[in-house]
Amino acid sequence: MDKETHIQSELFRILVVDDSADAREVIQTHLEDEGYAVRTCSCVEEALQLITSSVFDLIITDLRMPRVSGLELVQYVRNNLKDVEIMMITGHPSIEGAVEAIKTGAEHYLAKPFTERELLEAVRSIVEKMTRQRLAHGESLSGQSYGIIGASASMQQVFKLIGKAGDTSATVNISGESGTGKELVARSIHYAGKRRSAPFVPVNCTAIPENLIESELFGHVKGAFTGAGTARSGFFAIADGGTLFLDEIGDASLALQAKLLRAIQEKTIYKVGSSSAVQIDTRMICATNKNLVQLIDKGLFREDLYYRINVIDISLPPLRERGDDLLLLINHFRAKFAKDLGHPVPSFSDEALQHLMAYHWPGNVRELENLVQKLVLMCEGETIDLMDLPSTLKPTVSITKRLDRSLAEYEAEYIREVLASVQGNKTRAAAILKIDRKTLREKLR
Ligand SMILES: Nc1ncnc2c1ncn2[C@@H]1O[C@H](COP(=O)(O)OP(=O)(O)OP(=O)(O)O)[C@@H](O)[C@H]1O
Ligand SMILES: [Mg+2]
Repeated sequence: MDKETHIQSELFRILVVDDSADAREVIQTHLEDEGYAVRTCSCVEEALQLITSSVFDLIITDLRMPRVSGLELVQYVRNNLKDVEIMMITGHPSIEGAVEAIKTGAEHYLAKPFTERELLEAVRSIVEKMTRQRLAHGESLSGQSYGIIGASASMQQVFKLIGKAGDTSATVNISGESGTGKELVARSIHYAGKRRSAPFVPVNCTAIPENLIESELFGHVKGAFTGAGTARSGFFAIADGGTLFLDEIGDASLALQAKLLRAIQEKTIYKVGSSSAVQIDTRMICATNKNLVQLIDKGLFREDLYYRINVIDISLPPLRERGDDLLLLINHFRAKFAKDLGHPVPSFSDEALQHLMAYHWPGNVRELENLVQKLVLMCEGETIDLMDLPSTLKPTVSITKRLDRSLAEYEAEYIREVLASVQGNKTRAAAILKIDRKTLREKLR
């Protein structure tokens, strides 16, 4: 596989619809080992729900399923979603089936039984075709195209904002806990827009000493201060025509904030030691993991600057609120690091996955990325198991011990806590509790 196709495959989202759990698992395993982001479901009804709440590039569906046939799904997708390819698979290969599938709009057809190679080749040719089409259309690049993984509704909203922000030069403020992808989003906005051929210049407001920051940002003239032997341009000028990324803006001093405000309002800067204004066309993107509104209340952040930088406001949800994105990210990093290291792609045991899903992820995507990298590096067999996980990775559920309650009360509270820890996702809760969803539903009743 050439490099470009591989990059695409990592970001390619596939939904597998099949009523046979075995078939689903086999297909999912093969596709995930190639680095595709895969979700599965067992019927057309569930598929329809998933495709309205998440984005997919390809839907692989079985033809014959109880109640609603795969053809209905094909028809729905063809009528309602463009840019989604469909591949029909069937265990009853018949000419009629194939003809009907293709008439309905499933361009691709795969007869069971198929080998892993046949499946991957079919999918690969679809990926290549879509990549060519998208490049040919000069498609405006969404977050997905820059390696930001996420199918959850909240991340889809972020991708929309990235697209919108890329089209303008309005100032953007990105907020979110540490490790949620703020810098990744800032870069995507720059590279998604018309400024992409000019520089993206990241500056961390906390990393530069207070007495130097002004000259670093705005530049200085020769002899402006002791040590300024030669004139220098600052980051604003270097990013002219492009984007200045001001990271940790919440830590900027009030003095610096006043100068930034002037730069934004007047679109001009003054070099240290000079009184002549220099015109700049630098787009600013700011990021912070602090709550700027609270800082304003404490008098530590200028309200006028806040409104100036908050023209487009992107807030990144913590990983624990992104639902199944966690699984997509695990697969993405697992394939990526295995490839980097030249290792075979390991799989995760169900128990290990359950633990990862139940964890609180205070360090968000960065923490997950580092962990998966370490696990892939250390993995000696084919599977990463519960015992391979660090001991710190305990579920966040805490049960206060009280010795005066009935077993039923105790159980009810435990179930509620588990559910809360996974944002009410019953599938994940059932996985943690090691009961099936039906049992969980009964217990909830
Ligand atoms: N949705 C995502 N898909 C893929 N990789 C991601 C995603 N979000 C974050 N990452 C990766 O996680 C790491 C942390 O992301 P990034 O540095 O952008 O976070 P941040 O919010 O700026 O963190 P901090 O607050 O610590 O500065 C990076 O390696 C980034 O590539
Ligand atoms: Mg950052």
